[in-house]
Amino acid sequence: MLIKCPDDIIPSEITSQDLYLRRRDFIKTGVGLFGMAGLGATGLLASSPALAAPKPTPPFSTARKSAFSTADESLTSYQDVSRYNNYYEFGTSKADPSRYADALQTRPWTVTIDGMVKQAKTLSIDDVLKAAPLEERIYRMRCVEGWSMVIPWIGLPLAALLKQVEPLGSAKYVEFYTAVQPDNMPGVRRRVLDWPYIEGLRIDEAMHPLTIMAVGLYGEALPNQNGAPMRLVVPWKYGFKGAKSIVRIRFTDKEPRTSWMKAGPTEYGFYSNVNPEVDHPRWSQAKERRIGDVLKRPTLMFNGYADQVASLYSGMNLKINF
Ligand code: MTE
Repeated sequence: MLIKCPDDIIPSEITSQDLYLRRRDFIKTGVGLFGMAGLGATGLLASSPALAAPKPTPPFSTARKSAFSTADESLTSYQDVSRYNNYYEFGTSKADPSRYADALQTRPWTVTIDGMVKQAKTLSIDDVLKAAPLEERIYRMRCVEGWSMVIPWIGLPLAALLKQVEPLGSAKYVEFYTAVQPDNMPGVRRRVLDWPYIEGLRIDEAMHPLTIMAVGLYGEALPNQNGAPMRLVVPWKYGFKGAKSIVRIRFTDKEPRTSWMKAGPTEYGFYSNVNPEVDHPRWSQAKERRIGDVLKRPTLMFNGYADQVASLYSGMNLKINF
């Protein structure tokens, strides 16, 4: 990832992909290294004013509880969930998305589901909200950068959307395309990543009951910086698999080449399952810092969801298929 929490940065990471990509970007844009490094110094939670969770609003506030939610972990504060973000279309510092994402146009909004399907469909966000009963899913989110949160998402099983188009038997993967609004997204004017931000899943991963299309959090609609009006949440994978502000879902028989795979093929794999035994080439993945905590905690296999998802990968070498 480009930017890390300043207290997580250790000297050996100074020549990170982060800097590599930003150097590439700075060469293209002519922005000086000092300015780019300056970007990295922003994004501190401490500099944000205290922010209370908003008043919950229907239909998000009436979402039913789910047995898939984690029951015994403290929620990350609304302030941290909505002020410490990665959404590079709005900039590479953690504070940029909440600063600039108000400009994102989220209505009208449609998502097209097409590719290897019997009948392609375009759904409005209102269609999506009605596709299945909304549920609250309290999930852990582990970022590949080494931090984690516990977020009370509101959403619906992704399967409820995908089944509407009757995928062909020959389709094997699902590819997610996200919005590009150059007038509203200052980050897409720089080629930090190959836009649009693209992610992908195998069909069985996409159809898994833990995988949701999130449309809200903390009982309200998704804040723009968290990926309004709909974003993917796959809790056993690193957070970057959770593509924000999705506009197209395409069934395909070829493994999608995601934006992060293109940016760093040796660092970010297609699967990107949370795995404390497979280190990032430049840092260990054995531990994580829960935002709000001081001490690090051990990272759990599949982010603690092994009982539900390990069977998806039986017989696979997870070091090779990272
Ligand atoms: N989706 C888009 N479109 N653009 C992004 O830059 N960042 C990813 C993911 N989805 C990203 C994205 C990364 S790196 C992470 S860790 C999560 O969103 C962060 O989600 P959050 O800001 O809601 O915590």
